[in-house]
Amino acid sequence: AQGRTVVAIDGPAGSGKSSVSRAAARQLGFDYQDSGAAYRALAWFVLERGIDLDDEAAVVAALADFDYGIGIDPDAYFVRVGDVDVEAAIREPRISAVVSRIARMLPVRAYLVELFRHVISSSERPGIITEGRDITTVVSPDAPVRILLTASEEARMARRSAEISGQSAQEVAKHLSSRDAQDSRVVDFMNAADGVTTIDSTDLDFDQTIQAVVGLVRRTSG
Ligand code: CDP
Ligand code: CDP
Repeated sequence: AQGRTVVAIDGPAGSGKSSVSRAAARQLGFDYQDSGAAYRALAWFVLERGIDLDDEAAVVAALADFDYGIGIDPDAYFVRVGDVDVEAAIREPRISAVVSRIARMLPVRAYLVELFRHVISSSERPGIITEGRDITTVVSPDAPVRILLTASEEARMARRSAEISGQSAQEVAKHLSSRDAQDSRVVDFMNAADGVTTIDSTDLDFDQTIQAVVGLVRRTSG
């Protein structure tokens, strides 16, 4: 619809994209789209079907049956495949460990980019925040508000290990860096593209980071 504010946020794992975007959307009365959830849900679906994750043709063929559903109301967030609620399952380390292997397949990316654009254009709120790795550059390069949310590697690892139980801090750090390294080969989310505003959250607490995003959106969209 017209006059809506589209907000694009990218950044590496643990920079605060999901939690900050969702909270900012809530404050602004916007919708919130977690694009990483779609890559994770597809990885879950492919594993469920017993498809070889490196068999690109088989993964691409599976897209025809991939019935993905996401809740974009920040107060009613859900992720479903068919009628299965996969929100918890897609965060498991077994998914994080393999998701980059399907995210590097270009037909998979092309398919999901269209899906994200469709969700953005069907939102009925005054705005929508979408976060991921290639939202500012590929999905919504024309968005009026584009943000690269960063934080030092140390801060990102510390935040993630605080969330994950059952893995040592070293393990979490090792897995996160290797996922970022693999993902970086496909899209650059470590450097701000032209016109993209960097928000470095290393020395900001959670609330200050939300306010930095909300402030930028309000200043830009008036
Ligand atoms: O939240 P976290 O940073 O752990 O990752 P995520 O946003 O849930 O994304 C999971 C994975 O999906 C990433 O590691 C990328 O492989 C892929 N992804 C992507 O390729 N492009 C996006 N726009 C979003 C996620
Ligand atoms: O989505 P992404 O991987 O970028 O990060 P996230 O899962 O939203 O954030 C990782 C953790 O960092 C969450 O528990 C946030 O509450 C926390 N965080 C923080 O402690 N300080 C910030 N300034 C931003 C996020």
